[in-house]
Amino acid sequence: MRVDVVTIFPEYLAALDLSLIGKARTAGLIDLGVHALRDFTHDRHRTVDDTPAGGGAGMVMRPEPWGEALDHVLAAGRIALGDPAAVPALVVPSPSGVPFTQAFAHELAGRPWLAFACGRYEGIDERVLEDAEARLEVYPVSLGDYVLNGGEVAVLAIVEAVGRLLPGVVGNADSLVEESHEDGLLEYPVYTKPASWRGHEVPPVLLSGHHAEIDRWRREQRLLRTARRRPDLLERLDPTQVTSADLAVLAGAGWQVRSGRFRFVPAAVAD
Ligand code: ADE
Repeated sequence: MRVDVVTIFPEYLAALDLSLIGKARTAGLIDLGVHALRDFTHDRHRTVDDTPAGGGAGMVMRPEPWGEALDHVLAAGRIALGDPAAVPALVVPSPSGVPFTQAFAHELAGRPWLAFACGRYEGIDERVLEDAEARLEVYPVSLGDYVLNGGEVAVLAIVEAVGRLLPGVVGNADSLVEESHEDGLLEYPVYTKPASWRGHEVPPVLLSGHHAEIDRWRREQRLLRTARRRPDLLERLDPTQVTSADLAVLAGAGWQVRSGRFRFVPAAVAD
């Protein structure tokens, strides 16, 4: 996969030299190009921002350096990929983007080429996105309902989430399947040795050697943890896709099927 990132802080992306993503790059699975936005300015101060049209607080990123930077990314990437018609999906991290999810990570992992535009200040002049939309698919994406200082941290998160889904990046592909968010439930709790630590025990079932019981216990933990920590996920789960044993576990935690959806029903109104 080819990945291009345009930023005013290229050093921020040095973290992509490390760990699994760094190894994937060394192995040739990810070809990363980091581009300094200021290289596409033409004034002495290498200016990338200006005051907002219409007034208001903060600064907005000017369109001209962005236009030139994205033209460069398109041309350089087409040469690197050896395909003069190739187009990247352009991801623009922003607190006003659509929420980034595991499903979207899978969608992006299927693309041969991703480009990222890191905004700073109050954001990028909207015409940059309009102009890019004429040539590329543009995805404004948010990591969550909070505000970061810029898109760089979001790019690190998105590249890591997408990169680990590429074949060969994570050594044991099984560990990708049994994960939080792969099937709408959170992951079960995990333990290792020693069996007893500071008075806390590994749940005995995990040491029993009974694989069917271990599987049942883990499934139960996933359901209960999701109900407790992420009731929004449980409300989105299709009740027809779970077993009667699952229904019993959830009923014990106060979750019942009402009008085809899981709903938390306080004991006093449960039938
Ligand atoms: N840039 C600033 N805040 C962000 C967020 N929450 N997600 C993605 N990019 C951002």
